[in-house]
Amino acid sequence: MREELKNLADIFYMKILSPSSPINIKWVHATFSDLGIRDENIEKIAELNAPLSREVWYYSFIKAQEEEKLDVYLNKIVEHTGFEENERLGKYLDALGLIYKDGEFKRKFFKLIVLVSGRGTNLQAIIDAIEEKKLNARIVAVVSNRKKAYALERARKKNIPTYYLPARKNERREDYDRRLDEIIAPLEPDLIVLAGFMRILSPWFVKKYRLKIINIHPALLPSFAGLYGENVHRAVIEYGCKVSGCTVHFVDEEVDHGPIIIQKCVKVKDEDTVETLAARVLEKEHESLVEAIKLLSEGKIKIEGRRVIRVS
Ligand code: GAR
Repeated sequence: MREELKNLADIFYMKILSPSSPINIKWVHATFSDLGIRDENIEKIAELNAPLSREVWYYSFIKAQEEEKLDVYLNKIVEHTGFEENERLGKYLDALGLIYKDGEFKRKFFKLIVLVSGRGTNLQAIIDAIEEKKLNARIVAVVSNRKKAYALERARKKNIPTYYLPARKNERREDYDRRLDEIIAPLEPDLIVLAGFMRILSPWFVKKYRLKIINIHPALLPSFAGLYGENVHRAVIEYGCKVSGCTVHFVDEEVDHGPIIIQKCVKVKDEDTVETLAARVLEKEHESLVEAIKLLSEGKIKIEGRRVIRVS
């Protein structure tokens, strides 16, 4: 990434070398202040009014990138220097997580849509991972089929757009999914995450978003498929299983069936109740879901038949 950053900085450095360029160290300092970037080194150099060397210019790019404001910094620079798209630049931008669209530099995000029905602790795990920068993604919508789902509240608190989409009486699955897609399609998600979404998706929808929908299931598939929430843990305990866990998998036309991305185990203790087992599995769910999204967002998996294989 450093190499791409340096190359990008170089291209613009060439452009600011002309004597008529208004870009100098004072300009960098003022622009950083505008963008809310504080940097002692830039402040010191600006005070000295030293010439804007290539190294300092490159340093300003590193700083802007670290602060995740390289896109806005570039937009300010091109106001003075202009910008012509070319393939070489496109490659650098891509590596730096940027795109040039509609006459502007923008940050590229892995766009997630999360479908929920309940309390939304899995949604919260994703929100937290994004805030903690463990995931380079953005949740562009949270959709619930239940009005009272606390997950909606969690999303609203973070200013994530929310949609409540109840099913109509006797509505066919596909008809519901087509209405759902009126919300989803314009947002062009990279991934749709079912995080406690208590509806089965129609083959039409699954086909449209093949390998772009994942689900979290609170058991080790293929055991205990087709069950929801508490019922899963009750069935595990009643069956006398000694281990349980969770599965993150791609969604295909069969319920709880698509290729498995991640599984994590927990022991089932003799004294476990539905609640204690559920709580232990839930912790693993949160970790697994974030890990799976990370793998997908970084393109670190390939699929061979039913097998999801990691690539570095
Ligand atoms: C989770 O335990 C999830 O695995 C389960 O619903 C819960 C939702 O919790 N999903 C299923 O059972 C789907 N078969 P949350 O709303 O706190 O994320």
